[in-house]
Amino acid sequence: MNIPGAENVIEFTYLIATALFILSLKWMSSPVTARRGVRAGEMGMILAIAGTLLSHDIVDYKWVAIALVLGSIIGVPLGLVQMTAVPQRTALSHAFGALCVTLVGTAEFYLRAPAVPRFMMAVLSLEVILGALTFTGSLMAAGKLQEVLPQRPITYKGQNIVNLSLLAVAVAVAVALVLHPEKMNLFPAILAIPLVFGVLMIVPIGGADMPTVISLLNSYAGLSAAAMGFVLDSKLLIIAGALDGASGFILSVNMSKAMNRSFSNVLFGAFGQEQITAAGHAEALPVHSATAEEAAAILAAANKVVIVPGYGMAVAQAQHKVRELYDALTKRGIDVKFGIHPVAGRMPGHMNVLLAEADIPYDKLLDMDVINGEFPQTDVALVIGANDVTNPAARNETGSPIYGMPILDVDKARTAMVIKRSMSPGFAGIDNPLYYLDRTLMLFGDARAFVGDIVRELGGPRQ
Ligand code: TAP
Repeated sequence: MNIPGAENVIEFTYLIATALFILSLKWMSSPVTARRGVRAGEMGMILAIAGTLLSHDIVDYKWVAIALVLGSIIGVPLGLVQMTAVPQRTALSHAFGALCVTLVGTAEFYLRAPAVPRFMMAVLSLEVILGALTFTGSLMAAGKLQEVLPQRPITYKGQNIVNLSLLAVAVAVAVALVLHPEKMNLFPAILAIPLVFGVLMIVPIGGADMPTVISLLNSYAGLSAAAMGFVLDSKLLIIAGALDGASGFILSVNMSKAMNRSFSNVLFGAFGQEQITAAGHAEALPVHSATAEEAAAILAAANKVVIVPGYGMAVAQAQHKVRELYDALTKRGIDVKFGIHPVAGRMPGHMNVLLAEADIPYDKLLDMDVINGEFPQTDVALVIGANDVTNPAARNETGSPIYGMPILDVDKARTAMVIKRSMSPGFAGIDNPLYYLDRTLMLFGDARAFVGDIVRELGGPRQ
């Protein structure tokens, strides 16, 4: 369909969309500007879609309209999940995106074959291989996080060699196709082998490493979209795909660093295989527990309190009660800060987003490196639903699976109080020696209910 002057409008729209994508990433790097960043990304995407709808290549809008309606029907409920389910929700988005890229790549091959120029065949192969492995890999990752598939890594001898050989065969077939694009019957192999590889790649990776793997799959999805940009001659897709690929990769590197793990350890280390439950220790070693009334009395007598939130605060949706606690303590002149671990919760920035939602001032949220120096002068470190990120075994026990992971040094505070429901371990599945220290008090209960009880004891708002 030819719309006069559409080409210029499309180019201009794409230019603005590109600028918005870049600004979006920049703004999302700080909690102060993150909301603006999300809006900029949304605006960029709307402009990109609008520009594409003006394209003269569209011969019939009927199918586009059907796809838009179907996409909205599926997409809107998917966007309404709880925040703790965002990692698996993100994995599903990658799966959809990767499936789309793979289908477009396949269609483009059969439209152009057998006369596909070498460069085009190379980017088409890259697009299809990365798209296909990202599709099944992301579905597996979502299944593991949603616990519809076993979280435990499944390993066997020679697994890595089998997996990498499979990928090598796919690459070899792609090279053969680049040299001889007329051998069209080879094409299904670069589609089928990566689909199998995607499944096998995730099987040996434990649930605890899934958020890092999802971020890596994000990067693959971006690279495959960039490759599709070359195939479809779309500069916007090339830029957006490259931004996605690079940011996903940087995020994975940062997450691995925060856990003191190498990339190869995350991908091939089968972390979380030996689940060491806390139950055995809980029977053998006594812990000190306290009531909300006792906890409130200790907090009221403190000068300096550091609150350490974790995954349990997110599941319990306790952030608003935590805000009430913050208000009740600061009203008494107590210095209250928050210690934020880079991988607390289940996704980067998880705690910052929740605490921002409850209007806790950003300047009270301190990164691990900054707050760790303050624990020795802290009267009470109040841990709310965090476990692994406070585990001193990471510092002291060379044999621990999390040895070397930087942690929040809550055990160095004068008193540590831990709100959790039981002695169950955290995501890494290992026991936490913090709970057995003389100066640690366990506050057993649901994070939201327990914090609410402490607030009531402190004379704050009634529930
Ligand atoms: P976890 O170690 O997973 O511990 C969370 C604790 O919350 C559990 O021990 C659980 O104990 C408690 N909990 C659950 N529901 C609760 C509720 N309703 N009320 C009170 N407590 C509740 O969390 P963390 O310390 O935040 O550490 C995050 C983990 O995720 C780390 O192992 C990290 O490596 C991993 N990880 C995170 C990321 C990112 S980017 N965030 C990426 C990869 C891996 P009970 O069952 O006894 O209540």
